[in-house]
Amino acid sequence: MIRKAHAEQNQKIQKKILVVDDYLPTRKLIIDTLTTSGNYRVDEAENGQQAVHRFDESDYDLVISDIMMPGMSGMDLLHWIREKNPGAAVIMITGNPTTDLTVSAIKKGAVDFLTKPFDIDELLYKVDIHLRQKEMLSAQSMRDILEQNRIKDTTVELSKRSYIYDAIEDAPMDNDVIFEKIAELSLQLVDGEICAILLYDDASREFHVKAIRASKGDVRDHSMQSAALKMVYNEVIERREAVLVNSNDHPDVSPSLICAPLMIRNAILGILSIRKKKNREVFSKRDLHHILSLTKRASLNLENKILYESIYSSVMDTLSSLISSIQARDCYTEEHSMRVTREAMRLARSMKFPEKDIESLRIAGMLHDIGKIAVPDSILLKPGKLSEEEYLIIKNHPTIGENIVKPIILLEKERRIIQCHHERWDGSGYPHGLKGPDIPVLARILAVADAYDAMTNNRPYRPAMSRERAIEELIQNVNVQFDPDVVNAYIKIL
Ligand SMILES: [Fe+2]
Repeated sequence: MIRKAHAEQNQKIQKKILVVDDYLPTRKLIIDTLTTSGNYRVDEAENGQQAVHRFDESDYDLVISDIMMPGMSGMDLLHWIREKNPGAAVIMITGNPTTDLTVSAIKKGAVDFLTKPFDIDELLYKVDIHLRQKEMLSAQSMRDILEQNRIKDTTVELSKRSYIYDAIEDAPMDNDVIFEKIAELSLQLVDGEICAILLYDDASREFHVKAIRASKGDVRDHSMQSAALKMVYNEVIERREAVLVNSNDHPDVSPSLICAPLMIRNAILGILSIRKKKNREVFSKRDLHHILSLTKRASLNLENKILYESIYSSVMDTLSSLISSIQARDCYTEEHSMRVTREAMRLARSMKFPEKDIESLRIAGMLHDIGKIAVPDSILLKPGKLSEEEYLIIKNHPTIGENIVKPIILLEKERRIIQCHHERWDGSGYPHGLKGPDIPVLARILAVADAYDAMTNNRPYRPAMSRERAIEELIQNVNVQFDPDVVNAYIKIL
């Protein structure tokens, strides 16, 4: 009975998604990912025409569509959906995201992009964020929804490592760059002359320029802080609404200006202010709409990022105090972890891994031996050789470490590295005896850095090896303990 009620409730809150792609493997990957998450009802179409028919039979909350398809293209489908079903959010799939394409798809009403090859986390993240945004924008009272979702938001964000900005793939951690990108995208979206993002200080009631971009010429030629403009800004802050001013009254405003608020939660973060090219046509209502949808999306993304960062930093504080607690009894583990982290990151960089993987190694490296917290002193600090039973206890540390970080769902990738750092290429490692490429590549990198550091430092049971001897040892263990590519790369930088 209870189960039935639960199932019915699930049924009610499941959002409907349509996946349109002529290429079966991509379509299947997306459908499997979304279905496995259990949160969505998913239908498929192999081309634009079929998608149109699907809409005849049903309504969809979200559509994920390829751009390049035979017959009706993704852009044509997007246009059709905007006309017939403006309520559906559309995410476009592309292999080659250029700014022109982004701008033209946003103008046609797409909410986001997936760039091939995309990863599953990114797909789920984008689907989740746009469905939630849709819910928020259609709600009568934004405040009510935010209150209701506050707890849910935190949980959702905890599980997300990446935050995707519109047309800002792989956005760096730096907020300044993100503001610059938003300004730049705004200029292109509505053919503006100059765009500034100003943060608002509630206490002093002043505006501070955060980013400023001009379509041509030097940004220093433009003042976006004149008295006339500030009057408009203050009005936007007060009314919490975007304004479009077409006027020849004041040279700082004429002929056309759009100004829109940037909100975080229910508070004003600042404003986006954009001017039309002088002595030319004015902004249209449609331009205002474009800027409005851009600032709303930017606000939501910034909100997620800020929330994520605050949670992330408090989680990291907790973890570093855990590591220090190991240090209290065993200095080797902490110093070793620091060196291994540095080396693993250097190695991954030399192998041209993306920055987000290197960031994962920073966390996993520091935490890889955290499971040793559960190993008794008599074993951990034993100067002599370990007995078989003692060795079995030591061998539990990757699993214990993995369990320690398990509740922190945002460390999913790092958890796998911690769990697998003692797996061996030939399958003879622990805890699972994974073989070759089944071992996550970042764990294979960490394993090489870990072994090299252990060999080249004094241990209670043996003195440090020379660098040459340790390199020899690495080479001898290629294809046995280590991934050959990783060892090759490491020897190059050693
Ligand atoms: Fe270890």
